[in-house]
Amino acid sequence: MSVADVVARARTAARPLCTGTVTGAMGLTISVEGVTAAVGDVVEIAGATGLGQPLRAEVVALHRDRLTCMPLGEVAGVHVGSRVRATGRPLQVPVGTALLGRVLDGLGRPVDGGPPLAGRARFVDLATQTPHALSRARVAQPLSFGVRALDTLVPAGRGQRLGIFAGSGVGKSTLLAQITRGTDADVRVIGLIGERGREVREFLEENLGAEGMANTVVVVATSDEPPLVRLRAAFVATRIAEDFRDQGRDVLLLMDSITRTAMAQREVGLSAGEPPATRGYPPSVFAMMPRLLEKAGTGTVGSITGLYTVLVEGDDHNEPIADTARSILDGHVVLTRQMATAGHFPAIDVLESISRVASAVTAPHRMADAREARRLLGALRDARELIEIGAYTEGSDPLVDRARLLEPQLTGFLRQSVEDTTSPDAAWDELHRIVTGS
Ligand SMILES: Nc1ncnc2c1ncn2[C@@H]1O[C@H](COP(=O)(O)OP(=O)(O)O)[C@@H](O)[C@H]1O
Ligand SMILES: [Mg+2]
Repeated sequence: MSVADVVARARTAARPLCTGTVTGAMGLTISVEGVTAAVGDVVEIAGATGLGQPLRAEVVALHRDRLTCMPLGEVAGVHVGSRVRATGRPLQVPVGTALLGRVLDGLGRPVDGGPPLAGRARFVDLATQTPHALSRARVAQPLSFGVRALDTLVPAGRGQRLGIFAGSGVGKSTLLAQITRGTDADVRVIGLIGERGREVREFLEENLGAEGMANTVVVVATSDEPPLVRLRAAFVATRIAEDFRDQGRDVLLLMDSITRTAMAQREVGLSAGEPPATRGYPPSVFAMMPRLLEKAGTGTVGSITGLYTVLVEGDDHNEPIADTARSILDGHVVLTRQMATAGHFPAIDVLESISRVASAVTAPHRMADAREARRLLGALRDARELIEIGAYTEGSDPLVDRARLLEPQLTGFLRQSVEDTTSPDAAWDELHRIVTGS
């Protein structure tokens, strides 16, 4: 150890310990007097959780004589006079290859019963600078998901941000797990935000399995966690992905769901005194979404491809969260309940789905095959009603006739069982054979 290190350590050890007290708690906020801290810093409140562990809270507002903090855990047990210690820094998050194969809670602590991360992982500040748009590489390389319908008709690029728009129970989680196993990304980071505990168990044990956990980091904040933990979990998953990207890796970040993350921000905003502005959502929700989603994308090295699920209930297309997400993302995949109930999985409505980088990441001859497939599927959709009521006469539209002939093959191509991973080359070859009739 160098002299400078010794001096630095001595300085840290000799720093006066600054403690204050809790003076009140209401709703989701705790007021603290007697400590100085910056907005975003973490403070520790002693004796709250009853487990001997201090309760951590984040400073969200400053006043002349006190701080307003929001708990990162259960507040039960906090009382007026509880001792508070300033840690002097914001939330620290573990990053690096030691995280691969691990399941973490919303604050980055392991919850899988595996070894502790202290000493194995690096710890960094949660907050980062988002790379400036002009310093970012363009999206130009394809990223495959191993799912035929996506890799050919909604092709993704490394560094793209895609939304998966769907109602509940139409196969979002199953598709995310299938993509996790089938993608050619170097590293996958999964954020499970606001799901029920049972769903998370099912996802990890049944959908993902041991194969899906390789080169994968999972960050989980279930619906019963405090809203600030659910909100931070989305940023923690993103921070872990950012570190892998900055090491030059191509990362796939899967977030389920951005809607529940927005709902957590709503709870946090309202309890901090913000007014509900747009359909019950305070302005901070619409500030948070681009801040979170812009962190994915290309860097100067490496990339984060972001895949965010968006809940759409009924046919509410003016729902403000879905609307905002659509405006930020560079593509969307639509899953429909009709297809799911008809047993067509993955229930992707390819005609309603679009990737804005498709032509940048796909060779022209393949784009031509994809366009032809869309033309055939579109003709089938438009003629469907006539066909069903028996009003379509064969020969009246050559395109519809050809589409009807090829329909079984097209459907077989678009349907794919969860265990099946198809390489993009094989998928393109098959699509070419179908649309050219060879
Ligand atoms: N690829 C698939 N193959 C067969 N069944 C599926 C598939 N995807 C979803 N399902 C069925 O739909 C149900 C809900 O899927 P899930 O992925 O949990 O939906 P969501 O996450 O959208 O709520 C599953 O329990 C399963 O019965
Ligand atoms: Mg689900």
